[in-house]
Amino acid sequence: MMKTIHTLAELRRLLPDAGTCAFVPTMGNLHEGHLSLVRQAAGHGMPVVASIFVNRLQFAPHEDFDRYPRTLARDCELLDAAGCDIVFAPDEQELYPQPQTFKVLPDPALADILEGHFRPGFFTGVCTVVMKLFGCVRPKLAVFGKKDYQQLMVIRRMVEQFALPIAIEAGETCRASSGLALSSRNGYLSEEQRSKATELVAALRLLAERYREAPSRLVELEAQAMRELAAQGWAPDYLTVRRRSDLASPAAGDAPLVALGAAKLANTRLIDNIEF
Ligand code: PAF
Repeated sequence: MMKTIHTLAELRRLLPDAGTCAFVPTMGNLHEGHLSLVRQAAGHGMPVVASIFVNRLQFAPHEDFDRYPRTLARDCELLDAAGCDIVFAPDEQELYPQPQTFKVLPDPALADILEGHFRPGFFTGVCTVVMKLFGCVRPKLAVFGKKDYQQLMVIRRMVEQFALPIAIEAGETCRASSGLALSSRNGYLSEEQRSKATELVAALRLLAERYREAPSRLVELEAQAMRELAAQGWAPDYLTVRRRSDLASPAAGDAPLVALGAAKLANTRLIDNIEF
């Protein structure tokens, strides 16, 4: 029987020893993408803890913190069915009883590019809460989705550099049959926008294909991809090809690669990526 708890004290009672669970951190409003991470975590034969916490630190003042959907009851039903054992859903007072003045400052080479360039401070907010959640849950392993590709890399680097005894696993991106990557923010889209939203992954696939044919024209191909998506009514932040290892621009012959993109469709900012 899954337990839903809201305090660190309850978590310690249920899991007195460190390194005995698999962990999936979330901000709730769950979809199949999150549930597949929970099922992956459950495959390790340890108790699975999922956290639900909408982390104010990773939202800029103009972003959607206040309207981010809070759907705890439904999330818990879904988590139970997916094989989660403990839902840790602290409120802000519990997780940040004092203002969180100590922060985790990630490597700017990895965290100030792409998402970090367009959302300054985002990865500091993410790393700080993930470090704190790791301290609360003390998992043996944690699963993060590839949908947030850069986040996964930043967390991996953080765990490595702080020598945290936690294995980080990547979970594959779940897509609707249309190709649209599942995301909590898809809920902001109208039916019509939802079908249009597949244009982002299509643009990334095309960019990857064109890059394979003419790698020396990368800068030009990225600009072309941006122009084409803008002509379809989007406001793109970036569409780019990077090395998977460090998210730097590839030199000729570098592999493996990933095409990453972020763009706004009306008021909704979507991100996606394709490994190739
Ligand atoms: O990916 C998310 O949902 C969040 O960034 C995370 C990792 C739960 C931290 O708040």
